[in-house]
Amino acid sequence: MRGNVIVGQSGGPTAVINASVAGVYAAAKRAGVNKVYGMVYGIQGFLEDKVLDLDEYLADEAGMELLKRTPSAFLGSCRYKLPDVWSNEEQFEKVFEVMEKYDISCMFYIGGNDSMDTVKMLSDYAKQKGKNQCFIGIPKTIDNDLPITDHCPGYGSAAKYIATSLKEIIRDNAVYGDYRTAILLVEIMGRHAGWLTAAAALAKDDSCEGVDAIYLPERDFNLDEFLRKVKELAERKKSIVIAVSEGVRLGNGRFVCELDGAGSEKTDVFGHKQLSGCGAFLAGLIQEKTGYKARAVEFSTLQRAASHIASLTDIEEAFRAGEAAVEAALEEKTGMMVTLLRGEGDSYRCLTGLYDIHAIANQERKVPTEWITEDGCGVTKEYEVYARPLIQGELFPIYENGIPKHLVRKV
Ligand code: F6P
Repeated sequence: MRGNVIVGQSGGPTAVINASVAGVYAAAKRAGVNKVYGMVYGIQGFLEDKVLDLDEYLADEAGMELLKRTPSAFLGSCRYKLPDVWSNEEQFEKVFEVMEKYDISCMFYIGGNDSMDTVKMLSDYAKQKGKNQCFIGIPKTIDNDLPITDHCPGYGSAAKYIATSLKEIIRDNAVYGDYRTAILLVEIMGRHAGWLTAAAALAKDDSCEGVDAIYLPERDFNLDEFLRKVKELAERKKSIVIAVSEGVRLGNGRFVCELDGAGSEKTDVFGHKQLSGCGAFLAGLIQEKTGYKARAVEFSTLQRAASHIASLTDIEEAFRAGEAAVEAALEEKTGMMVTLLRGEGDSYRCLTGLYDIHAIANQERKVPTEWITEDGCGVTKEYEVYARPLIQGELFPIYENGIPKHLVRKV
């Protein structure tokens, strides 16, 4: 490959997004690339020339190993939308100016639906202007809502955290036995797609009865039906644990988290509202309307930062996705995203592919309707067959002084 390459991270982090950086670095070095740069704070930082040389951190095996086990985005992230090219061509030219300064021939951008918009815009601009730099997207999102790819790196680890924590919480909630009714609402991220909340179903096994209801944003949420369900559950059992997506909304489109007026009216540059608080709202509603004690737990950022319980499968696939992006660049591809493909047959196998970024940027893939139970309070066996392989295996942190050691940027 001619010249150097750069890798950036964008959007909400995951427990394995750094493994993709490691994959890019390993494959690029194998291919004889001189410099593998990292953009600090994604495209937003890159526009201000915030660039580091990954050799400083990853030249030895120990750095690579630590990076794979470090949560959050090592390079820093951003939620930044490039402007419409006609309204601000300067910004596009600035990107190419910085690329030329560091002799960068290919940019790898790790992110979700919005971040793939950046890959799309830059690769389209390069084509239009006859520039020969290439742009390849590497999927990541705990939300698992990118289309085309079978699943997204980051999802398996967040799902593993959710299933494990719920299993622990279900034990805790049952501690007073028949002496007290205890209702627990667990709010799970995922915006408009219910993949993460569906992972609550994975808590169930021989030593755990599982959660009592799962509410995904794919179905309209009805407050009366919800209260009816809670009362019906409370008539036959004392310990009740309910998983609810941060993105559940009423039939009129209003988010449940906005109902008490506490929901944030603020939207990010991609028009997404910050969704938080529906668990607390519903717990309050239960107390008020039924008199039962109810409490809420919001997994919030814990579910995407939990590298202490990351899925080894997920880490390996994130790393592989980084490598596959470099291979695509070696074949002079551009305007594509790496996809994960599920191999045929009974035993789980994951392969990689490539897909046109135009079919992916800004799109959301929801949980299929047929995987949601008819009553709208659970997911079917098909979901479990899909998700269970993604949470397999562990790669524990490197511990020092009793707590995990992380790789941290100096700048
Ligand atoms: O990136 C996905 C995600 O973690 C969503 O599940 C969540 O709604 C959102 O990011 C939160 O974003 P932020 O951390 O920027 O508020």
